[in-house]
Amino acid sequence: MLPDTLEQGRRLADEALDRLIPLETEPPESVHKAMRHSVFAGGKRLRPILCMEAGRMVAGSLPAGIDELGAALEMLHTYSLIHDDLPALDNDDLRRGRPTCHKVFGEAIAILAGDALQTQAYEVLARLKCPAEARVRIIEEIARGTGTVNGMIGGQVVDLEAEHTRPTAEMLEYIHRSKTAALITASLVSGGLYAGAKDSQTAKLRAFGLAIGLAFQIVDDVLDVTQTSEQLGKTAGKDTASEKATYPALFGIEASTRKADELVNQAFAELDSLGERAEPLKELARFLVERKK
Ligand code: IPE
Ligand code: IPE
Ligand code: MG
Ligand code: MG
Ligand code: MG
Repeated sequence: MLPDTLEQGRRLADEALDRLIPLETEPPESVHKAMRHSVFAGGKRLRPILCMEAGRMVAGSLPAGIDELGAALEMLHTYSLIHDDLPALDNDDLRRGRPTCHKVFGEAIAILAGDALQTQAYEVLARLKCPAEARVRIIEEIARGTGTVNGMIGGQVVDLEAEHTRPTAEMLEYIHRSKTAALITASLVSGGLYAGAKDSQTAKLRAFGLAIGLAFQIVDDVLDVTQTSEQLGKTAGKDTASEKATYPALFGIEASTRKADELVNQAFAELDSLGERAEPLKELARFLVERKK
C-alpha cells in the first residue's frame, strides 16, 4: 500500500542519511551543520523511495543495503537544491519549510555544503554492498544523470539561460528531462542494477523514469502557480516572478496537468509486462502527479 511504501521508504532513507553524513560536532562543524540543515529539513525522499522500490521489484524483496544507495541519491538531490537556491541561480529564501542553506550559513558555506554532499555521495556509492561490476555501473549511471549532457547540471544551465525567453516546446522538454527526469531515472535504474536487473529490466525502468520524471517537473511547475508558500515549504509564484520557462507559462495549467497525466499512463504501459510486481512503482507514479507539495 502506498502510505506504507512512503513511510517505510522515508524512515529507511532518513536512518541511512543520519548514519552516513558526518555529525554536527565533527570538525569543521559549520559545513556539517549546513549539510544536515538542508538534508534533515523534511524532504519527501522520493528518489530513495523510487530506487528502493525498483530494487524490490527486480529482486522480489528489498535488497539488503539498498538504503545506502537511496541515501546517496538524496545527498545528490539535496546538493542540487542548495545550489538551485543560491542568489546566483534561483535566489530563494525558503526550502523544505526552512530558511535556505545560504540564508543561515552564508553563500560560501552553502556552496561548500552542496559540494560536500556530492563528494559524500560518491564515497557512499564506492562502498555499496553489491558486486563490484554493478557498483561501477551504478556510479556511471548516477554521474551521467547528474552531469552536463542530458543530465541535471545541463538542465540547470539551460533553465537559467531560458529565463525571460519564450522557449519552444522542445527546449522546455529538454530542460525538464535533464534537470529533473535524469536523476529520477538514475534513481530507478540504479535501484534495479543494485538488485541485479537484466538489461531488459533496466530498459523498462529507464523508460518509466523518463516519463514520470518529466511529469514530476511539470507538476512542480503547476504547484508553483496553484499552491501557497506555506503548503509548498518553498516560495510560491517564484517561476512567474523570474519569468522561468515552465509548462504552465507555455501551455496553461489545464493542458500541463493533462500532459502530466498522459505521461503517467505512458509510464504505466512500460511496466505492464511485469504484472503485480510493478504495482508499488505505479502507485508512486500516480502519487507524483497527484501530490500537493
Ligand atoms: C524539488 O524536488 C526540486 C525538483 C526537482 C522539482 P522535490 O519536490 O522532490 O523536493 P523535496 O526533496 O521533497 O524537498
Ligand atoms: C530544480 O527545479 C531542479 C533541480 C535540479 C534542483 P526548480 O528550480 O523548479 O526546483 P524548485 O521549485 O526550486 O524546488
Ligand atoms: Mg531552478
Ligand atoms: Mg528553484
Ligand atoms: Mg520549481
